[in-house]
Amino acid sequence: MKLNIAVLPGDGIGPEISEQGVAVLRAIGERFGHEMTFTSGLCGATAIESVGDPFPEDTYRLCASADAVLFSAVGDPKYDNAPSASVRPEQGLLAMRKRLGLYANIRPIETYDCLVDRSPLKTELVRGADFVCIRELTGGMYFGEKYEGEDRAYDTNVYTREEVERILRVGFEYARRRSGHLTVVDKANILASSRLWRRIAQEMAAQWPDVRTDFMFVDNASMRMIQEPGFFDVVVTENTFGDILTDEASCITGSMGLLPSASIGEGTPVFEPVHGSWPQAAGKNIANPIAQILSAAMLLEHFGLVAEGAAVREAVAASLKANVRTPEIQVEGGQVYGTREVGAWIAEKVKSI
Ligand code: IPM
Ligand code: MN
Repeated sequence: MKLNIAVLPGDGIGPEISEQGVAVLRAIGERFGHEMTFTSGLCGATAIESVGDPFPEDTYRLCASADAVLFSAVGDPKYDNAPSASVRPEQGLLAMRKRLGLYANIRPIETYDCLVDRSPLKTELVRGADFVCIRELTGGMYFGEKYEGEDRAYDTNVYTREEVERILRVGFEYARRRSGHLTVVDKANILASSRLWRRIAQEMAAQWPDVRTDFMFVDNASMRMIQEPGFFDVVVTENTFGDILTDEASCITGSMGLLPSASIGEGTPVFEPVHGSWPQAAGKNIANPIAQILSAAMLLEHFGLVAEGAAVREAVAASLKANVRTPEIQVEGGQVYGTREVGAWIAEKVKSI
């Protein structure tokens, strides 16, 4: 297969992990005989600094004409501490999602047996936790009408039937392919937008009689997720709730540096880690490249390259088992490996799977 991949390294640890994601894809290309081309583009703070726009038109064109985007991270503390800045790195990511029509963000939460002791949760809760969060990505408060005055400000959490139906469809289909359990997370006791979600989900549930659909308020869901993560199989929710819940969910596995995601919809799909740009670690060779590498696995699987995706996953699992790990998940007294070393180990490993 020929794959033309746009690579957006972004900011902070982005470039380091991006390099490892690309290395693993190259290794897969070699091992399985696929022709992959990689073209880099600017985004985030890096793009603001060089061209004044966090998602420049050139980058949009690069993404729009690619088969897939391998994205890393954006964000810089310079902007976090300047609420009045008119351009912000995060706007680049939002612009990319919106312009490419990526309304569904798929965030699988998988745990590794050899890492259960790294989780802040009790081992018996973590073992076997395995669910997928499907986060709506181009609607809600992120994109609704905003007002920012001196003494008053608001964001509008707006959703249309069409937006809700298409994301719920993704949820029902995922649930059907997995164990048939879908949890729709909302705040229907308070929010009108949530009541729309719930009404539509109830209507649609009749078309998926094989899926057991339940509804949960987001405050309750956030508690349940750490009290009994094994309860969940497929979670579908709106943009803001999904953002928050998936950060929480990422802790279950033991490191945020392990979780990949896929953003899909109308245009070119984007594959990106759930974690952010971790600016404090930039250039230190300590960031875990696995979330990026597993995002590359999701990219391969998106194109039906199942054996290739499985090879990446197997190599990742082998690296963890062999204690080839970055500092945040290294066993006590174990040898610490850097971003580059972990990436290189996995890239080498896929060649022999
Ligand atoms: C994420 C991130 C982004 C979001 C930021 C960087 C705009 O936190 O992908 O979860 O809030 O969607
Ligand atoms: Mn987030």
